[in-house]
Amino acid sequence: MFFQKLFTPYKINQCEIKNRFVVPAMVTNLCDEDGNITEAFIKYHEAKARGGFGLIITEDYGVNPHGVGYKNCIRLYDDSQVPANRRLTDTVHMYGAKMFAQVFHPGRQTSSAVNGGVRPVASAKIPDAFNREIPHELTVPEIHELVGEFANTARLMKKSGFDGIELHLAHGYLLAGFLSTRQNRRTDEYGGCFENRIRIVEEIYHAMRAEVGDDFPLTARVSLTEDTVDGRQMQETMMIVKYLEKLGFNGLNLSNGEYTSYAPELISSTFTAKGYNVENAKRVHDFVNIPTIVANGINDPAMAETVLEQDACDFVGMARASLADPDMPRKAARGQLGNINYCIRCLQGCEGSLLEGNHVRCLVNPELGHETEYTFDEVTSPKSVLVIGGGPAGMEAAIAATRRGHSVTLWEQASELGGEFISAIYPPAKGEYANYLVFLKHQMTALNINVVLNQSANVDNVRAFGADKIIVATGGDPNKPNLKGIDAENIHFANDVLLGKEPIEGEIVVVGGGEVGTETAMYLADAERGHITILEMTDDIDAGLLRTVPTKRFFRDHEVTVVTHAKVKEFRDNEVIVDHRGVEEVISADQIVLAMGYHADNELLTALQAELSNVVAVGDVVEPTNALEASTSGFKAGYYA
Ligand SMILES: Cc1cc2nc3c(=O)[nH]c(=O)nc-3n(C[C@H](O)[C@H](O)[C@H](O)COP(=O)(O)O)c2cc1C
Ligand code: SF4
Repeated sequence: MFFQKLFTPYKINQCEIKNRFVVPAMVTNLCDEDGNITEAFIKYHEAKARGGFGLIITEDYGVNPHGVGYKNCIRLYDDSQVPANRRLTDTVHMYGAKMFAQVFHPGRQTSSAVNGGVRPVASAKIPDAFNREIPHELTVPEIHELVGEFANTARLMKKSGFDGIELHLAHGYLLAGFLSTRQNRRTDEYGGCFENRIRIVEEIYHAMRAEVGDDFPLTARVSLTEDTVDGRQMQETMMIVKYLEKLGFNGLNLSNGEYTSYAPELISSTFTAKGYNVENAKRVHDFVNIPTIVANGINDPAMAETVLEQDACDFVGMARASLADPDMPRKAARGQLGNINYCIRCLQGCEGSLLEGNHVRCLVNPELGHETEYTFDEVTSPKSVLVIGGGPAGMEAAIAATRRGHSVTLWEQASELGGEFISAIYPPAKGEYANYLVFLKHQMTALNINVVLNQSANVDNVRAFGADKIIVATGGDPNKPNLKGIDAENIHFANDVLLGKEPIEGEIVVVGGGEVGTETAMYLADAERGHITILEMTDDIDAGLLRTVPTKRFFRDHEVTVVTHAKVKEFRDNEVIVDHRGVEEVISADQIVLAMGYHADNELLTALQAELSNVVAVGDVVEPTNALEASTSGFKAGYYA
C-alpha cells in the first residue's frame, strides 16, 4: 500500500471518513443565479467523490438571500431547497465519500452588486480594500436574527443528508471580522474583549447544535494568521482554537489570510512556499484534542503523507489539487504519481475565472466545470485527426480526440513538445508550471499518440497526409515593432533569453511590463545578470493576477527599475530613446529585450483554410490570449473533432 497514513480511515465526531484526502470549500459559480443547485454542480462534486476523496466540503452556503459573496453563491434557507441538496449528498454518498456543508456570511467581503442590491453588513463600518463599500454595522437585534438564520440553515443541511457542517470563521468574512480586532471596533457586548468578540460565534454554535444534535459533526474553519498589517497572529489563534474546542466544535479546518493578504496569500500562488500553514497547524494540532485539517499549497500526495507523518494534522485539504485532478486519490492509491495532473498554483482558471464572474475553471484541466458536457462517449465513426503544433493547445486537442476514439497524429516543428509554454516555466516562482508539460507529455505517451517532432507543415504535406480533420495549433510569434535600429545585434526576444539562448548581461532594458516582460526581468535579476530597467507604456506593470504585488516586491528587493509611461521611439548603439511622459529621454542599454506581446502566426492556417475544408484553429494562432484559453480551446476542438 502506498501512502499508508493517507488511506487510514478516521472519525470526525461520529462520522467515519474513509481516508485523509479532503476537498476544502471552493466557490464554483456552478449554481444558478438564485443559488440553487444545478446538474453541473452535482457532476462537479461527483467527479471528486468518484476520484476517491474521503471528505468533500461544499462551497460556502448563504443563510439568507442577502448573505452571499458572489454571483451564483449557493444558499439554503427554505425547505423547498432540500430535495436538490439531497440529490447532491446522495450522489456523493454513492462513492463512499462524506460531504460537509460550509456555512458562512460574507460580511464586508461582498458588494451590493452581487448581493441583490443590499449593502454589505459587518461588525464595524470599515470597508474592505477589495470590495470597497462601507458596510452597515449590524445592530444587536440584527445579530440575533442572523443567529436564528444560521440555526435554520443547519437544520436544513442535516435534513439534506450532509454528514457535517463547517462554520466559516476564516478569510475575513463576517464571523472572522467579529473575532479579529482588525475589523471589530464595536463597543457593545459583541466588541472589545475576547469574550465579547467571540460571543456571536458562541451563540451560533449553540443555536446550530440545538438543531443538529450532539452526534453530528460541527467543525470550524479558522485562519491561523491573517497575513495583513494588523491581522491576527498565532498566539491569539491558539486562544481561539482552544475556546472553540471547549465550546464543543468537533474539528478545525486550518487555513490563513483574508481577501487582501498577498504572498502569503489565502489561495497561494507560486510566490508562497508550499505547505505554508503546516508548521502553524502543527502547533494547533499539538494543542487541541479534536481532529484538524490543514490546507494551502499541498498539491501532491507525497507531501500530504509527509504532513501526516509529521503529525501536523489529521486530514489534508487539497482544494485546487482536486480541481486539477479529481482522480488524484485513486491514482495515489495505485502509486501512479507520474499520472497525476498537478495543480501548478497559477490561479488563472480557478480564482481568475471567479473574479471575472465565470464558473470555476482550471488551466491544466479543461474538463472542470464541464462535467455534464464532456462525458467522453466513444464516437461512432472514428476519424483520422492531424494536429499541427505541440504546445498545450495542440496536446490537449490530441489527448481529447484520442480519448474519444479518434486516431491522432501530432506534428511539431521543434525538437520537443511544449511550444511557448516551455519558456514560461523558466522565470523565478514558475518552476511548478513544468508539471503541466510533464503531465501532457505523459498522456501523449500513455495514449499512444503518434507524435512526429521536427516536422514542419505546409499545404502539400498536410493534404498528402489525408486527415479527416486538421487542428491547427501553431501559436503566435513575438511582436517586433517597426522602429529604427530594431535589427541591432543587442536586441533579443524575451523567450530566447528565458530559454538561455541569449546569455546577456550588463545594463539591460526590457521593453514591455506585461507578464512576459516582468518575468524576464525577474529571471535576469535573479540570475544577477546586471541592472535591469523595464520600460512600460501604460501607467503600471501587469504581472498577472495576484502576481503583480509580489513581483513589485521582488523588483524592490532586487533593485529593478520600472519606468512607466515610457514609449520606445528608437534604438541606437547602446541606447534606447523613449518618450517619457511627453519628454524625450535616453536610456543606456548594453542589451535590450523585447517583450511587447504576440501576434497570431496564421500564415499556414490561412493557406490551409483556403485549400481544405476540414480545418479548425485553436490557441494563439486564432488570437494570442493566455495558456488557460489555449488549453480550453485545444481540448474542445479535440473533443468535437
Ligand atoms: C476557486 C476557489 C474558491 C474558494 N472558495 C472558498 C470558499 O468558499 N470557502 C473557503 O473556506 N475557502 C475557499 N477557498 C480556499 C480553499 O478552500 C483553500 O483554502 C485554498 O485554495 C488553499 O488550498 P489549496 O492550495 O489546497 O488550494 C477557495 C479556493 C479556490 C481556489
Ligand atoms: S487554475 Fe491553476 S491554480 Fe487553479 S486549480 Fe488549476 S492549476 Fe491550480
